[in-house]
Amino acid sequence: ANDTPVRHQPPTATYDSAFLKACRREPVPHTPVWFMRQAGRSLPEYRKVREGIPMLESCMRPELITEITLQPVRRHGVDAAIYFSDIVVPLKAIGVGLDIEPGVGPVVDRPFRTREDLARLRELTPEDVPYVTEAVGLLTRELGATPLIGFAGAPFTLASYLVEGGPSRTYENAKAMMYGDPELWADLLDRLADITAAFLKVQIEAGASAVQLFDSWAGALAPADYRRSVLPASAKVFQAVAGYGVPRIHFGVGTGELLGLMGEAGADVVGVDWRVPLDEAARRVGPGKALQGNLDPTVLFAPRRAVEAKTREVLDAAAGLEGHVFNLGHGVMPSTDPDALTRLVEYVHTQTAR
Ligand code: CP3
Repeated sequence: ANDTPVRHQPPTATYDSAFLKACRREPVPHTPVWFMRQAGRSLPEYRKVREGIPMLESCMRPELITEITLQPVRRHGVDAAIYFSDIVVPLKAIGVGLDIEPGVGPVVDRPFRTREDLARLRELTPEDVPYVTEAVGLLTRELGATPLIGFAGAPFTLASYLVEGGPSRTYENAKAMMYGDPELWADLLDRLADITAAFLKVQIEAGASAVQLFDSWAGALAPADYRRSVLPASAKVFQAVAGYGVPRIHFGVGTGELLGLMGEAGADVVGVDWRVPLDEAARRVGPGKALQGNLDPTVLFAPRRAVEAKTREVLDAAAGLEGHVFNLGHGVMPSTDPDALTRLVEYVHTQTAR
């Protein structure tokens, strides 16, 4: 019922980009590069435009979203932009009481613990997020042939914030619900899947060329629990946007044991953190999918020679892949030297030029 009809449209301005070709596992002129958290505190121009504006407020101003999203594209020459927002924005948009605290992350006023709490999660409509439609429209015009990646948080990672009430290392409350009240847990994840799917659809309809589902904290789960209690909701999200034909990327941290299942959930591209070499990741994921990753973000604090040697290792491990999008194994750390990122983009491009 959630399926979107397949649309046959003329190729878009971004269709022949290296990024989209790699996602489709077609030959590329060079390995495309982008960085998770490429927009953010590592850039002085970001800190400047964000001055005095709270994080969530900045996610609701189309001109500011556009400027911040474009900053790393201008500075680093990355092959794709990622829409500037946060995973909790759709929850805020439907009225969940939460904020993003500097240095902490998302904090929820009243954690979700009972069936009554489900009533606080209504459906999301495009009218709830007019600034997303507007900003994506502005961005796709500015970006031209450079693809824009839309994104959302996956049901498990969103649930972990809602149930814990904030960031957690152990996810004890979320797991207590998952094991203790599997029906409530399934209903919670199912609602989050609908909200997430609706949020991705808004971005795609407005012009995003690809989407990434961030299940950042799924690595906390054993494969059997992931398969039973999380995969169905993430699969529902991927299925809901399948008909658009835009590549769907699926990423989590510490998910070495889950890579096969994360592909199975419906991804076209599986994101890999730095703990599993890409050739081994390809064996775990199986044929028919591209991979994204996976330089350890802390490598960027080492001297240039070391960065190049570690990057060479990633490229060598990726040599036999069907499709490779170069990225870090997780987000850019705020204290990273932006020049190291610019040099890294150039290094990957020249090393892989065909
Ligand atoms: O460049 C990009 O990647 C796009 C921007 C982006 C942000 N958040 C901006 C942001 C993206 C893709 C996210 C997703 C996100 N948010 C995830 C999934 C990705 C991941 O890192 O695994 C998660 C888990 C969150 C939740 C969240 N929001 C955290 C943990 C934090 C950090 C808190 C802190 O201050 O250290 C945030 C805040 C946040 N989201 C910032 C940015 C740029 C920092 C706030 C600021 O600049 O004031």
